[in-house]
Amino acid sequence: MKDQLEKLQADMLQALSKAADAKTVDALEVQALGRKGALAQLLAKIPDLQPEERAGVGTLASKVRAALTQAIIAARSRLAAVQPAQTQFDPTWPGVMPSIGHAHPVAAFVDTAVEFFTRLGYDVADGPEVETAAYNFDKLNIPADHPSRDLWDTYYVQSKGANPLLLRTHTSPVQLRYLESHKPPVYVMCPGRVYRHEATDAGHETTFTQIEGLAIDRNLHVTDLIGTLTAFLRHTFGKVKTRVRPHYYPFVEPGMDVDMSCLLCGGKGCAVCKQSGWLEMLGAGMVHPTVLRIMHVDPKKFSGFAFGMGVERLVMLKHGISDVRQFLSGDLRFLQQFHS
Ligand code: PHE
Repeated sequence: MKDQLEKLQADMLQALSKAADAKTVDALEVQALGRKGALAQLLAKIPDLQPEERAGVGTLASKVRAALTQAIIAARSRLAAVQPAQTQFDPTWPGVMPSIGHAHPVAAFVDTAVEFFTRLGYDVADGPEVETAAYNFDKLNIPADHPSRDLWDTYYVQSKGANPLLLRTHTSPVQLRYLESHKPPVYVMCPGRVYRHEATDAGHETTFTQIEGLAIDRNLHVTDLIGTLTAFLRHTFGKVKTRVRPHYYPFVEPGMDVDMSCLLCGGKGCAVCKQSGWLEMLGAGMVHPTVLRIMHVDPKKFSGFAFGMGVERLVMLKHGISDVRQFLSGDLRFLQQFHS
């Protein structure tokens, strides 16, 4: 009996060491340790043994069971480790490129604009998005009771008290803050996020991006303003024509809107330009003498121009995007189209 047990162990260990797949191991397990397997059959014969033969058989049988169980586990882990290396791992297969992302189309536009204006000698300034009403309105010649405040309705962080806090509606306050620490001549551009109380639709967002600019120097004229903005629009959009139309902004005099010949129809008239041949691109004007005085700049010595543009609108025109809400949607299918 003991010989048979030892033979069973030796045969099984050898068979397990040669097993080439998991199915063979399963079969060997059933064959040796199963309910009707070799070990069970041997144990069933114990009652028939002579008492002197019986001694030590039980202990040996337990050892054989333990050794075979161990060997089965070892065979399974050997096959699990070996199999992928033999069948799946191909060292010549190219690696998976990690996605490193790219600039958001709005950020990319701001970058090219910054590059353009810094080459003209402009500084770039940044300021708070939560502003005081003084910087967003009063110092820009928009007093509290003036109806034009309605043009820049916004969200108030704190509406009570002498100086309410609000989400800025334009980056003009940054120019005022810049003027407090820089003496003219001053050339500065202020890109940044701004907010308006809007009902959102394909053309309106509560949150968008602006680039505003301010130039204050001796003898600056409307022609300098038009020349600068025409150069900028040509740099950004290619060969386009520009024109200006009078427009009211409280902080400039004269104030104007700058139009560009329609990108789509070249000026003939189409759906995008509402048959006019022109697209409205920027607000601009000569800085109002009252604003200069508020900022302690002498309007008799210095003059200046200012301009402001909504970046999303310009990017929409540039790329033919029909819904402004896409920019903040976080939809990668939209964003990945602007990989450059
Ligand atoms: N601040 C204006 C706006 O947000 C834009 C502008 C800037 C217009 C400078 C004229 C001159 O609407």
